[in-house]
Parts: sequence; C-alpha cells; structure tokens
Amino acid sequence: MTSAEAYAARHDAVEAQRIRLYGSQRQEDPWGGEAAAVFRFDPRRELDANLEIIASYVEPGDVFVDVGGGAGRVSLPMSLRCREVVCVDSSPGMGLEFDTLASGAGLTNARRIQSDWLEAPDVRGDRTFTADVTYFVRNIEAFINKLQASARRRVMITVWSEPPPNRSARIFRLVYGEEQAILPGHRQLLPVLWDMGLLPDVRVLPGPPWWETVVPLTREEAVEQASAGRWLKPEDKDEGRRVIERHFDELFSHGSAGFSPKWRPEMRELLITWETRQGREGQEG
Ligand SMILES: C[S@@+](CC[C@H](N)C(=O)[O-])C[C@H]1O[C@@H](n2cnc3c(N)ncnc32)[C@H](O)[C@@H]1O
Repeated sequence: MTSAEAYAARHDAVEAQRIRLYGSQRQEDPWGGEAAAVFRFDPRRELDANLEIIASYVEPGDVFVDVGGGAGRVSLPMSLRCREVVCVDSSPGMGLEFDTLASGAGLTNARRIQSDWLEAPDVRGDRTFTADVTYFVRNIEAFINKLQASARRRVMITVWSEPPPNRSARIFRLVYGEEQAILPGHRQLLPVLWDMGLLPDVRVLPGPPWWETVVPLTREEAVEQASAGRWLKPEDKDEGRRVIERHFDELFSHGSAGFSPKWRPEMRELLITWETRQGREGQEG
C-alpha cells in the first residue's frame, strides 16, 4: 500500500465507522451554522503567536490563496498585509461568515470562490495556504498537486498534532466501547509529501489550540465540556455524561485554576512548508 493509499484507507475507516454508528445521512453543509460561527474572528484583531509566524512569510505584493479558508480566520488578517486574498472553500455557511466579516471590516482585497479545491477554477497565488483542512481530504495527492501548481513561491500547510475531530478519542472509547477511527494527521501526511518528491520544512508553532481556552471551574462545566461536540450522538448525550461522571477522576485533574482535562493531551500546530521556486511574475526565485 502506498502512503497515499494508506491515507485514503484511514478516511474509509472513519467513514465506515460514522455510517455504522451515526447512520448514512450527511448534513448538507457540515461546516455551516454553529460550526462556522466558531471560526468568526475580527480581521483587525491582534494576531496570536501562530498567526504572527504565518504572517512573517507574507509579503506586501503577495496574492495569498487560502484553501479551505472557512470564515477567513487566517486570510482576512493576511489581506491587511498583502495585495490580495483569495479564499477557496466549499461551505456556503463559512462563506457567509467570510463575506460578513470582510465587509464589516471594510476589506476590499479579499474575495472568495465557493468550491471544492479539486473542482475550483485555476487560481494562482504567491503563497497557497491551507490550515486545518488536510485531515478531511481523501484524495490527498491531487489536493497537494493543485496547491503546488497554484503557488508561484511557497506552499504552506498547517495541521494540529492531533486532528481536532479525534480530540475526544479517549472518551469515545469509554462511551462506545471501541476505538475511534482516526483521521490522518502529520504522521500520515509527511510520507505522502516525501513520496511525491517534496522535502518540506516542518516548524512547530508555539501557541495552544485557539478554541480550547476555557478551563472549567466546576465539575458540571467539566462534564459539559467533555460531552460537547459532534462525536456524541444527541440521543447518547445523557449516557455520555453518566460515563464521564463515572470516570471523572481519571479524566480530570483538579487544581487552583479549575479542572484540567487529562483526556485531552497537549497539542501543537505544525507548519509544513516548501518553496515552489516558480517565481513571481516578472521576478526571479
Ligand atoms: C476546520 S475548518 C478550517 C477553516 C480555516 N482554514 C481555519 O483554519 O479557520 C475546515 C474547512 O475546510 C473546508 N474544506 C474541507 N475540505 C475542502 C475541500 N476539499 N475544498 C475546499 N474546502 C474544503 C471546509 O468547508 C471548512 O471550512
């Protein structure tokens, strides 16, 4: 099995488990509505440590293409630092958030294309960037090839060291009595890149996950936090909470700051990046 086939096999296993446990119905826009609202950020905010590093690669004359860019969490702040931003994303709900945020902030150099990346019309940029997306892509070689072909200067991919949908794997096991099938992360992505003849730099970024900032102060809040998310079917929520209660001391440690989740190991964002050396139009290198 090639590394790309192993990558796709992980998808197939996740999909098979999803259908067996949750049924074959798919949400029309799984990234729309409440999911999209989580990704809303003021484009003019102060950048966090990870975004500062991403921004350090961006030059004022650049066209920055953000693939699976969602609500513009990364690309809208970048639009204040470069010539143009193009966000390509398949979710209409994310697109709505992107448009509202861009117009609310008065940004005129940020546009979006609502499309799956593999079906999107050709778009060229100086940097093609994608954050938190590759775990969801089954045909990873084609996805990377298109990132590479679209980038005059550099491809930039960020992934969390544990794919976020797998964050609850330890509680999943307690509730459903089986291992959660795990989406592919950097351990699976890097061999695909190497097999494609690419030798990317891998940079571990300093900041913690931006969505995991709340430390529960009470036992009830801790149980609520642990039972949140789509991995637990609505009809299993009550049983899920009971299981978390029963295993509370192995799942949480209690300190002066509140209840720290032991079920959620520390994780870091990795920037995987390489130069494409196609040069900007009219420029060398
Ligand atoms: C976890 S969100 C990340 C959003 C954004 N990159 C960020 O970091 O804030 C994943 C996004 O990838 C998009 N996506 C997933 N697969 C895609 C594909 N094949 N083509 C385009 N967008 C895709 C989804 O619609 C969703 O908006």
